[in-house]
Amino acid sequence: MLAVPLPRSASGLAGAAPGRRWRREAGRGRQGLVLGIYSSEKDEGAAQFTSAGDAFDRLVSGKLRELLSLCGPPLKKGKTRIFHGLHQDFPSVAVVGLGKKNAGVNDQENWNEGKENIRAAVAVGCRQIQDLEIPCVEVDPCGDAQAAAEGAVLGLHEYNELKQKKKPVVTPQLHGSAESEAWQKGVTYAEGQNLARYLMEAPANYITPIKFAEHIEQKLRSFSNVKVHIRPESWIATQEMGAFLSVAKGSAEPPIFLEIHYLGGANTNDSPLVFVGKGVTFDSGGISLKPSSGMDAMRADMGGAATVCSAIVTAAALNLPLNIIGLAPLCENMPSGKANKPGDVVRAKNGKTIQVDNTDAEGRLLLADALCYAHNFKPRAVVNAATLTGAMDVALGSAATGVFTNSSWLWTHLYEASVLTGDRVWRMPLFEHYTKQVTDCPLADLSNIGKYSRAGGACTAAAFLKEFVTASHWAHLDIAGVMSNKDEVPYLQKGMAGRPTRTLVEFAARLSQDSHNTK
Ligand code: BES
Ligand code: ZN
Ligand code: ZN
Repeated sequence: MLAVPLPRSASGLAGAAPGRRWRREAGRGRQGLVLGIYSSEKDEGAAQFTSAGDAFDRLVSGKLRELLSLCGPPLKKGKTRIFHGLHQDFPSVAVVGLGKKNAGVNDQENWNEGKENIRAAVAVGCRQIQDLEIPCVEVDPCGDAQAAAEGAVLGLHEYNELKQKKKPVVTPQLHGSAESEAWQKGVTYAEGQNLARYLMEAPANYITPIKFAEHIEQKLRSFSNVKVHIRPESWIATQEMGAFLSVAKGSAEPPIFLEIHYLGGANTNDSPLVFVGKGVTFDSGGISLKPSSGMDAMRADMGGAATVCSAIVTAAALNLPLNIIGLAPLCENMPSGKANKPGDVVRAKNGKTIQVDNTDAEGRLLLADALCYAHNFKPRAVVNAATLTGAMDVALGSAATGVFTNSSWLWTHLYEASVLTGDRVWRMPLFEHYTKQVTDCPLADLSNIGKYSRAGGACTAAAFLKEFVTASHWAHLDIAGVMSNKDEVPYLQKGMAGRPTRTLVEFAARLSQDSHNTK
């Protein structure tokens, strides 16, 4: 043993506060270790190590178990204790509470609780190691290496691109050699979500439409089965995307229509899954200007585009055996002499006319044209994602993405995917009731807001989009409520969340295994 192993608690449960000297000494070691521990079934029973925890405890002749019991009651879910100097290869060991041992799918919560517990615990443990400025951390797979990797990679992610003083980079690695494939899969899923988080968090003067497109193109450059088209404004005009263009023309920043073809399917002509994402790189509201407080968050109004494009980058990295097309109309929504004015009427690609009663309901205008275009590819399914309505946040908050779909087949796949990822979905209605509220319009075929203004705002927005869909398997994901994280998701730090990228990837993976409707 290198030093007297003083336990101390990050959760404030036991032990002394970290001293400066401790931090320096710990930082000098080679790597940190994160180990899981289950709570006992009975309240006062001894906690149970994972197999990696058991093995480590044997290696240090039972010292870890001894120290833990000296620290007080067994570790609760999500709580951690850190020990220094137990083993020369791992100068700092964070033990994290995993909750009860055989937690599986929780039918009330609609997620796999065991996986969620692992993600949360590993994320906390890794962050503790990062605080000690240790550059490398080995992570206990905790019986599910994919979930552990997701917790580690998501938990350590932070946007500090534009700060001079950055947090130390910590590279998480699997502890032990079993389950390395599952670990790598988890890393890939989490990196996908982190890409969406990066794009959403970045300021709007850094991620303009063209910069967004170039960033995604660069991520896809190495894949020979991917083609990226960065369509300029002239192309958008020839496509007669009048609704999209009407929003874009209010800004000095030119719009882009990003089109990605990922051909992973057995045949290049297999019917594709088409993803469509709202790509408003900044939403000021336009002439119907938003209040200035909190407006900065509207840099993430391209979250739909960010999550679907990141899901395709991830699908390519995983080499998923299906064809996916990604479409992202990208522009800013700004007030100017050229901007849409309330009451203006514009014409979408399918010929439908739209009265723009509120210029802040711009996302549906972009999506109307992109959804029309999506049908050119004879898709097996169309899935769009958009930070579409504040009303979605009012309805569900950040608990789940709202899904409006005309297909129970599609719903089942999305739902089952979300139970695994923990990034949940909840089905919402597409009633005719709401359609009537957008088709009753004085000057045009459709109004871009519901006639009862705020009531059921997420549903009237979905009903509006439905007017541009003829595909029999379509789902609209309103992700406004899950756009950012305060502290609700314990394995994501505060900031833009990149949700539900992992659910989209898992959904695509499931679709690739389902032969229904591929031709
Ligand atoms: N991008 C916003 C929706 C939004 C709000 C996303 C908060 C994320 C967080 C969208 O373009 C918008 O402003 N929608 C309006 C629609 C209304 C005018 C019918 C809204 O929700 O207020
Ligand atoms: Zn808006
Ligand atoms: Zn918007």
